[in-house]
Amino acid sequence: MVSVELRGVSKRWDNFELQVDLSARDGEFLTLLGPSGCGKTTTLRIIAGLERPDSGRVFFDGKDVTDLEPYERNIGIVFQDYALFPHMTVFKNVAFGLEMRKVSKVEIERKVRWALELVGLEGFENRYPEQLSGGQQQRVALARALVVEPEVLLLDEPLSNLDAKIRERLRAEIRRIQRELGITTIYVTHDQEEMAVSDRIAVMNVGRVEQIGEPLELYYHPKTEFVARFLGISNILELDAENGVARLGGIEFNVGVDGKVRVFFRPESVLVTPGGDARVTGYELLPGRIRLYLDVEGHTIIAERPLPDLPFEPHSVPHKVGLVVRSFSLLTL
Ligand SMILES: Nc1ncnc2c1ncn2[C@@H]1O[C@H](COP(=O)(O)OP(=O)(O)O)[C@@H](O)[C@H]1O
Ligand SMILES: [Mg+2]
Repeated sequence: MVSVELRGVSKRWDNFELQVDLSARDGEFLTLLGPSGCGKTTTLRIIAGLERPDSGRVFFDGKDVTDLEPYERNIGIVFQDYALFPHMTVFKNVAFGLEMRKVSKVEIERKVRWALELVGLEGFENRYPEQLSGGQQQRVALARALVVEPEVLLLDEPLSNLDAKIRERLRAEIRRIQRELGITTIYVTHDQEEMAVSDRIAVMNVGRVEQIGEPLELYYHPKTEFVARFLGISNILELDAENGVARLGGIEFNVGVDGKVRVFFRPESVLVTPGGDARVTGYELLPGRIRLYLDVEGHTIIAERPLPDLPFEPHSVPHKVGLVVRSFSLLTL
């Protein structure tokens, strides 16, 4: 297994410029997350060797692979649209890369069975792609990528064409397989729901990595407003701090600096207490929890509490409550 590193990599098109430094550790599951058009696929294609960077170098385990062709890099790739050969059976599809490499028939037989078992498709050898569901086709694509025992697995939005339920199941299975094989994996997605399976996430925005870190670190301690908003519902307040404290109504933020600050916190970091000056302007009942919309001195704050946590009965939401913000962080101004 290997680490993957992009050092000063850039790629320019008419109205787009990619500029990334990035590294995935040996055996790591790294997710590139960002909105459509931010440069995720381009980054992945540069790692695969399908695209040449204008400048910068790509390293696998410290070895410079920038000038190597895709087939000279030990990688497996899975795309969003499966890209299976329609006229070939599942067996033939998975065997294809091995046949290209002139592996013996016995070995091919053994490896294809291993790969199909790994993705839960034993017994499907003789089917054709059109006889399979989308999820099964993507399992075949995964088996085909893994059968050559690549050092690096690259996945570009592999679940985007699938239904939510299948997406969730296959996502968990990709993670299980990745752990089992200990394979360094770079996973591209625009869907923040997919952050859960990653060791680390690199959030991308207009051709750059805005922040890289572990999922919970990014979720609770984003550095920029973009990362904060991209990863879910945020409370972001612009306040003036004096003597290291920013105040809003009865809420105090010990920010440790003076002047203008941008304070960030998640809805679930807001505790609700009986009696206070926060006006309840609306609420939504969600599975197992309630989301409250609150107004404090003209600022909107969103709080989410599990239902048993409420200081009132869910059917009698009061007009005013108190708020305590349990943890927050500062965003760049
Ligand atoms: N071969 C190409 N020629 C010109 N522009 C391209 C090419 N490939 C990608 N782009 C542009 O680069 C930007 C990033 O694309 P892409 O890497 O596919 O983003 P993402 O995968 O995050 O949606 C887009 O504006 C896209 O139009
Ligand atoms: Mg893409």
